[in-house]
Amino acid sequence: MIPSVLPTYSRAPLHFVKGEGCWLIEEDGRRFLDLGSGIAVNALGHAHPALVAALTEQAQNLWHVSNLYEIPQQQALADKLVGATFADTVFFTNSGTEACELAVKMARKYWYEKGQPEKTDIIAFTGSFHGRSSAGIAAAGSEKMVKGFGPILPGFKHLPFGDMDAIEAAIDEHTGAILIEPIQGEGGIRPLPDDHLKALRKLCDDKHILLILDEVQCGMGRTGRLFAHEFAGIAPDIMMVAKGIGGGFPLGAVLATEEAASGMTVGTHGSTYGGNPLGCAVGGAVMDVLTGEGFLEEVSRKAGALRQKLEGLVAAHPDIFEEVRGTGLMIGLKTKVAPADFVKAGYAQLVITVPAADNVVRLLPPLTITEEEIAEAVARLDATAAALEAAA
Ligand SMILES: Cc1ncc(COP(=O)(O)O)c(C=O)c1O
Repeated sequence: MIPSVLPTYSRAPLHFVKGEGCWLIEEDGRRFLDLGSGIAVNALGHAHPALVAALTEQAQNLWHVSNLYEIPQQQALADKLVGATFADTVFFTNSGTEACELAVKMARKYWYEKGQPEKTDIIAFTGSFHGRSSAGIAAAGSEKMVKGFGPILPGFKHLPFGDMDAIEAAIDEHTGAILIEPIQGEGGIRPLPDDHLKALRKLCDDKHILLILDEVQCGMGRTGRLFAHEFAGIAPDIMMVAKGIGGGFPLGAVLATEEAASGMTVGTHGSTYGGNPLGCAVGGAVMDVLTGEGFLEEVSRKAGALRQKLEGLVAAHPDIFEEVRGTGLMIGLKTKVAPADFVKAGYAQLVITVPAADNVVRLLPPLTITEEEIAEAVARLDATAAALEAAA
């Protein structure tokens, strides 16, 4: 008999009942150190006081109103995002994949309104992940995601991640946009070098193509910058955001320049819940913490300390690890064992990690992780590696 919850996930037998900062508490009382953050969602850890306060205060006043009316919390969060980024305008969604839907629609509508309706094609990349909606799976294009779900949304070309020559060769009169993650997350923490991102920006400018960045996983302070593209000193035309922006409350966004968004006029897009008062109240509190004095500098400093310790860990367990990679607190441990086996062995050491493609175990701890917790994290990862060595 089919389970009452549609069985699309392979779940670990863990029942967390409470979260405190970097800690997840199982119903049997065990305290797990959370280096996954709900896959880069709980950017400020669990039950951050500022987020709890923002949510409970809003919950006591107003949960939901339609986008038929003004929503001050939405306006305030949009102003904060516009103030802190390249963007001139923001549309709020509930998830990353909805942000992908809009990013694709926005790019196509832009060229339609510019009198070049043939520019519908979007260049995307192998190993990418953009969500599970029709545009998201079409954009990622992997067989695992699209098989059996045809007909797949047309208009996507898939090239090897960051292959500049292939990109240049693939551009034709139908190319309207390039969609890329500055650091592939699900693909295995694969950063695009800064000079590639710079070259992509220039290529898009030269060839009149929109640059869409998917910062759903790498954005919102994860790398030590508010957004990962800042390292390359460039700006996209359109950017997808989700995960960390709500700190655990479902929230996403599409940020865009005025020019790129110019086709999106009244009636062209909408969402019942997108930008609702609860989500935007929490999102506003997340932004205040992330952009607070010294917060991101501290993320970078702690990330440096963690990285150094992880290099030592990798060197100490050459049969388990191959390398450590990533930026800031978006870290990949490339393993010689199956990542799922490492993650499972970690549960026995009370540490939560997340598997990814390319034989990588992801570490995406809350950005609020402390020095002591970093030391504890490395000790638990060390114990996990030792247990796997002993079992080999
Ligand atoms: C880079 C990237 N884009 C899009 C998504 C889809 O986000 P959501 O699961 O909120 O739809 C994800 C989720 O993992 C992601 O990592």
